[in-house]
Amino acid sequence: MGGASVSARNEVRIEFPSLPENVGLARVAVAAFAGQVDFTIGELEEIKVAVSEAVTNCVVHAYNGTPGVVRVTARREGRTLELVIEDSGRGIGDVAQARQPAWSSDPERMGLGFVFMESFMDGLEVESRPGKGTRVRMWKSPASAGAAEAAGAAEGDGAPGSGRADGG
Ligand SMILES: Nc1ncnc2c1ncn2[C@@H]1O[C@H](COP(=O)(O)OP(=O)(O)O)[C@@H](O)[C@H]1O
Ligand SMILES: [Mg+2]
Repeated sequence: MGGASVSARNEVRIEFPSLPENVGLARVAVAAFAGQVDFTIGELEEIKVAVSEAVTNCVVHAYNGTPGVVRVTARREGRTLELVIEDSGRGIGDVAQARQPAWSSDPERMGLGFVFMESFMDGLEVESRPGKGTRVRMWKSPASAGAAEAAGAAEGDGAPGSGRADGG
């Protein structure tokens, strides 16, 4: 049944060809999904930048200009948003190097995509297999989630419906 409350978990997945015009689509779809969590406008902007950078990488780097598939999964677990962006492209030989600020395999680019993803989200994991593809996982909770938990712990007042025994 419906009702005012938001269910504890949700997940959506979209798949699309690696075309530049689909970056905006992924960005809007993820922002709409992220709206199920009480992120601030600023936090939603950060999420949109992070997803744009990840999807742009699939479009410009993964497939060397040939058509390929990009898959974006958005998952919500309570107030935590998790995003997984995957491609089946050429992969990254040295992930640690690729994540360095200002490192790019393309002299025309700034090499800041992973830096933005890392700084705008709470966490970032990059897994890649050369010749097989790349999987970027990132997650974020509202900054207010930590604040509310701290306040709740101090006042002994649990957030409605949180049902958490340990605040974890
Ligand atoms: N999905 C991907 N497939 C293949 N290579 C990638 C992918 N994402 C990132 N890379 C590699 O990692 C490097 C760094 O990515 P990024 O920080 O976004 O900088 P930029 O895109 O500006 O080069 C890219 O230059 C590219 O070599
Ligand atoms: Mg990039």
